[in-house]
Amino acid sequence: MAKHDKTDIGISTILNPVPVVMVSCAGKDPESPEQRPNIITVAWTGTINSEPPMLSVSIRRSRHSYKLIMDTGEFVVNLVSKSLCKPCDLCGVKSGADIDKFEACGLTAVKARDLQYAYAIKEAPVSISCKVRDVTALGSHDMFIADITAVTADSYLLDDNGRLCLDKANLVAYNHGEYFLLGQKLGFFGYSVASEEVMRKRMGK
Ligand SMILES: Cc1cc2nc3c(=O)[nH]c(=O)nc-3n(C[C@H](O)[C@H](O)[C@H](O)COP(=O)(O)O)c2cc1C
Repeated sequence: MAKHDKTDIGISTILNPVPVVMVSCAGKDPESPEQRPNIITVAWTGTINSEPPMLSVSIRRSRHSYKLIMDTGEFVVNLVSKSLCKPCDLCGVKSGADIDKFEACGLTAVKARDLQYAYAIKEAPVSISCKVRDVTALGSHDMFIADITAVTADSYLLDDNGRLCLDKANLVAYNHGEYFLLGQKLGFFGYSVASEEVMRKRMGK
């Protein structure tokens, strides 16, 4: 049994685990090398509102992607499956100012649903089209607050009733500098008070 005596470990961005996502974007002239479709890896992201659906991504002003998103007000949040984990890391250590990351990762840029300029990653299981509503300077990062304007998902993730089964997507989470594959289902929203019948249906027990 763990002993819960506490040690002060200093103030830091220790909130974990967090999602890690591949944010795709492009400038208004995608044929030019400076504005071609690009991908930036972002861990400082989160859902921030339900109605209307909104999310945020926090990006340093020095990033190549920062300029593209500022220019168009558009980006796509692509969820990261196991097979995208290495490309995701690469997009987080190389700049689109130096290389074509779609080409380097062997990924396909497809026009994003409902957006004019941004591209989505075809190989991502879920792609979330976003339009920037506001930009807040926080310090090291600027937080882009955005409306979700469309969501696409690979059809293998939908069951016969059209329900999204995200547990089939082999998604990756980021925990204290390391990537982890989501694995074992422990419960579901409200399972602590669920009936035996619901538990059997949802958990197989
Ligand atoms: C796991 C991981 C998470 C990252 N999270 C962020 C983030 O939240 N915000 C940010 O500005 N940069 C983040 N980065 C760094 C950028 O992805 C990286 O600097 C990238 O090369 C920028 O690409 P760009 O210059 O093409 O825009 C992260 C990198 C990794 C590997």
